[in-house]
Amino acid sequence: MEKRRKVIIDCDPGIDDSLALLLALKSEELEVVGITIVCGNVPIKEGGENALKTLEILKALHIPVYLGEEKPLKRQLVTAQDTHGEDGLGECYFEKIEGAEVKEGAVDFIIDTLRKEKVSIIALGPLTNIAKAIEKNKKVFENLEEFVSMGGAFRIHGNCSPVAEFNYWVDPHGADYVFQNLGHKIHMIPLDVTRKIVLTPNILEGIRRLNNPIGEYIVKITKFYVDFHWKQEGIIGCVINDPLAVAYFIDKSLCTGFSSYVEVVKEGVAVGQTIVDKEDFWRKSHNSLVLNEVNSKEFMYRFLETVFKENHETLRKLKEVI
Ligand code: RIB
Ligand code: CA
Repeated sequence: MEKRRKVIIDCDPGIDDSLALLLALKSEELEVVGITIVCGNVPIKEGGENALKTLEILKALHIPVYLGEEKPLKRQLVTAQDTHGEDGLGECYFEKIEGAEVKEGAVDFIIDTLRKEKVSIIALGPLTNIAKAIEKNKKVFENLEEFVSMGGAFRIHGNCSPVAEFNYWVDPHGADYVFQNLGHKIHMIPLDVTRKIVLTPNILEGIRRLNNPIGEYIVKITKFYVDFHWKQEGIIGCVINDPLAVAYFIDKSLCTGFSSYVEVVKEGVAVGQTIVDKEDFWRKSHNSLVLNEVNSKEFMYRFLETVFKENHETLRKLKEVI
């Protein structure tokens, strides 16, 4: 068995973040050394509680959860509680997890971990925590192994405006600061690929029939999210953006893309837009690897096989309906 890759997951749980955490924590390829919470889908208090809920489902409360930035670098926080529910988990309003507490200091945790060892970061929310960590101690990022960020939109319309995707729209100053100062290529997982990752009613019904507590949790927290997708975009099912960033980190063959310079628009009508200079008009050094194609069926197989590895037999039938 190959050595597990050490990773920090920076997220704003959030329903799809929670599915991404399930995937990461059930993946034998990863060692999740910590979860850092950033303001985004919900305020960080709810984000922290929701991370603990997912850890409890997997009996993984030993993994530390750190609260990070409560608001974007410059803009006011605009949450996505219309999409993820007031509680951030589809208004299931789960009981508070007893015997486990979140910690403060996400930014310092990121810096201290990078100072100590080589580690990767998978960012599933606005990049405010990452920007603050670079601002505070850029040198330790020499120890960063790989950086994957779910965010942006290349050729597809946004989900917060005609051009802007939520994570980079919430904090465009933080996002652009990271794109310009990380010092490593950002593997950018935009809406162009994540919109192809849909939990359909068939798959959700198949998950329900696994009679597995994790499956029950997924069905419960996605109900609100499925209703939102129908009302908002006329989609049957729900797009799960964040798990693709985790799956791609584990297996790069799931997505293909190209190297490019990217910047995030910080002001004005196109605020939050990712300008992807694919044709190299500006001749700037490439700060990103933009993933614009995905094998969505293979992703779904991997997601189900990893999260429900105990239900091997039933999964075989479930895979026929994907
Ligand atoms: O635009 C989708 C992204 O914004 C996802 O990460 C979702 O969880 C929200 O954070
Ligand atoms: Ca997210």
